[in-house]
Amino acid sequence: MNLPIASASDLAGPTRIQTCSCGTEVRHTLSGREALEVVPCPTCQGEVLFTSYERMDIGLSEYCNLKCQMCRRPSETLFMDAEWCKLVMSEAAAVGVETISFSGGEPFVHPKILNLLEHAFSLGTKVQMVSNGTLIKEKHLELLSKLDCLTISIDGTEAAHDKIRRREGTWRRSMQTIEMLATKSDIQWGTNTVMQQDNYDVLWDSFRAIQEVGKLKYAYCGFSHVEVVPETAHLQMTPEQSRAAHAQIQRIAKACEDTHTWFNDKTMLLDHWDSYAQKEKRYRPMQGCRIPQKFIGFTDHGFYLCWHQGRNIKMESLIGALRSDLARDIVLEGLEKRCVACNCFNYSWDDEWNAGIMDSAKAGESVDGVVAFKDPDRDAGRVSLKMVTGGSTSNTLDMHDDGV
Ligand SMILES: C[S@@+](CC[C@H](N)C(=O)[O-])C[C@H]1O[C@@H](n2cnc3c(N)ncnc32)[C@H](O)[C@@H]1O
Ligand code: SF4
Ligand code: SF4
Repeated sequence: MNLPIASASDLAGPTRIQTCSCGTEVRHTLSGREALEVVPCPTCQGEVLFTSYERMDIGLSEYCNLKCQMCRRPSETLFMDAEWCKLVMSEAAAVGVETISFSGGEPFVHPKILNLLEHAFSLGTKVQMVSNGTLIKEKHLELLSKLDCLTISIDGTEAAHDKIRRREGTWRRSMQTIEMLATKSDIQWGTNTVMQQDNYDVLWDSFRAIQEVGKLKYAYCGFSHVEVVPETAHLQMTPEQSRAAHAQIQRIAKACEDTHTWFNDKTMLLDHWDSYAQKEKRYRPMQGCRIPQKFIGFTDHGFYLCWHQGRNIKMESLIGALRSDLARDIVLEGLEKRCVACNCFNYSWDDEWNAGIMDSAKAGESVDGVVAFKDPDRDAGRVSLKMVTGGSTSNTLDMHDDGV
């Protein structure tokens, strides 16, 4: 049973000011129920577009040079067309998106990555990137210095990392990048570690190794529980391993305080460990979810207003997509808590989502914000893409470099 959604006044979104092409400044308070709202300009009657989108994550290609054991990537492979990507980034900036983030597969396998970054920087938005760090060279550092932040994925000490990343030498190469970032650039960088069976006992050692190389330049660190599908369920930590990991994470959080290293999602991770560790439970924000009004995922397959609903809007234009009936339906699915629900930190940049998810987790299974992993809606499955676990020969490129 779904609870009735909040009243119109509770739902109202932010008030925004947009400048019409005629130069008039137009103010509008969003209803909180739409992906995009169109307001006539009082001067020229032209259309002025309003949204509350904050962030766009770009999956630039499904290709990668690694086949990490926990990663799921579509098996149909394409490099996103660079001109299309630039057009969409411009549309995103025009409707108010503040942060554009390049992520996976691996951004650095895209042949036009540098050109795409230059375009993103020209739009004046914050630009972020997540990379496995194996293809970043010294000659890239100048351009990368315009990033808001660069996250390098490190999954353990050498043996654990190379096992998880399924290629020997990967840890050495990624740590070489970290050293380069620390000693030859002013880029704000940090790390992300996916906690799982094969690294639960080396989290502290791994953190110390990065700290030793990065020293005070190590700006932030993040840890997340491995997200799984049935084929990768065995990667989850056992309850004993989970306890051992939690003890190390507490120690790391303390060490971060001493060195002023920002610890991502600290409260959610430390205080609500079990909610995120137990992947058989999923949560929806208690008052309904507004992520589909704040977030845009963008891949070759179109636009996703939350990754987890798995409903892609296949259109050339982002603005066209946000004006579509499908966008309206995705937004309502979140607000009315009909969605598959979440169990991850993907949207933890949004305080409203964090608080709502935690309210549901605390209230327990009596509320409709909490659903079991085996949810019929989820099992019905809207994701039409064929995914492969850990990559395949069709979506993995044999790319190496020595960092020079
Ligand atoms: C999909 S990757 C793309 C960027 C890049 N290729 C990399 O590995 O950093 C983005 C982040 O998701 C993490 N990741 C991959 N599979 C995951 C899973 N099953 N659960 C949680 N995080 C995962 C990666 O370790 C990485 O930090
Ligand atoms: S296979 Fe590994 S390196 Fe490649 S996208 Fe997935 S997590 Fe990133
Ligand atoms: S799955 Fe539901 S709770 Fe999770 S981000 Fe999407 S709409 Fe929100």
